[in-house]
Amino acid sequence: MNHLIAPSILSADFAHLKQDILMLNNSDADWIHVDVMDGVFVPNISFGFPVIAAVKNYALKPLDVHLMITNPDRYLEDFQKAGANVITVHYEACDHLDRTIHKIKELGCKAGVAINPHTPVSLLENVIEELDLALIMTVNPGFGGQKFIANSYHKIQQLRAMADEKNPDLYIEVDGGVSNHNSLALLKAGANVLVAGNAIFAAEDPLHAIAELKHISPDTFHA
Ligand code: DX5
Ligand code: ZN
Repeated sequence: MNHLIAPSILSADFAHLKQDILMLNNSDADWIHVDVMDGVFVPNISFGFPVIAAVKNYALKPLDVHLMITNPDRYLEDFQKAGANVITVHYEACDHLDRTIHKIKELGCKAGVAINPHTPVSLLENVIEELDLALIMTVNPGFGGQKFIANSYHKIQQLRAMADEKNPDLYIEVDGGVSNHNSLALLKAGANVLVAGNAIFAAEDPLHAIAELKHISPDTFHA
C-alpha cells in the first residue's frame, strides 16, 4: 500500500482555518488529522464538535479524528455526526476497548486505537484483528511541535510484525515529531500513515512540505 499523509490541523492557523482546509484539499494529503484534547487525558484543550463540523463543510478529504479524551464512548456518535471518517481512541482511556471499537464501526467509521509512548505494543494483541488502524504516538500527546521519541522505531517494527501475522491491511499511523528527517525511516520500520503538524504548517510552503512527505525517495532523506 502506498503510504498516506495526514496533516494535523492542530498546527493550522485557527483564524484562517477555511484557507488551510482549502490548501489541504489542493494538496497531496490523503486525510485531515483532527486532534481533540479534553484537558484531562492530556494537559491541553484543543477544539470540539462545532469546529470539526465547520472543517467538514469544506474538507474534500476524510477526517481522521484522534480523540485524546477520557471515556470517549460518551461522544462517539457526536464525532461521527460532526463528520469523522476515522475515529481513534486511546488504549489508556478505555475500560472496555473491544466494545468501543465495535461502537465506532457500527457508526460506519473506521476504528483506530492509539498507544502512548509508555504503552507496549503487545497490549494490542487481543484487539488487532478488529482494528482498521493503530496509532503509535511518537511524542507524549498534548502538543504539536515536540521532539520525536526515538525508541518508537522498535514499537513500529513490533506492530508491523503483529499486523503481518494477524491483520495485514491494518493502517499503522505515527503521530508526533514526524518530518522529512525521519519519514523514510518510519516507512521502512512499517508505518504507512504519517501525521505531521509542525513540519507542514510551519513550513514556508506547506504544499511542498506535504508533497515531499508523500513522494519520499532516498533523495529527500536527510538522516
Ligand atoms: C499531539 C497530536 C499530534 C500533533 C502532531 O498530541 O496528537 O497530532 O498535532 O504535531 P507535530 O507533527 O507538530 O508533532
Ligand atoms: Zn494526533
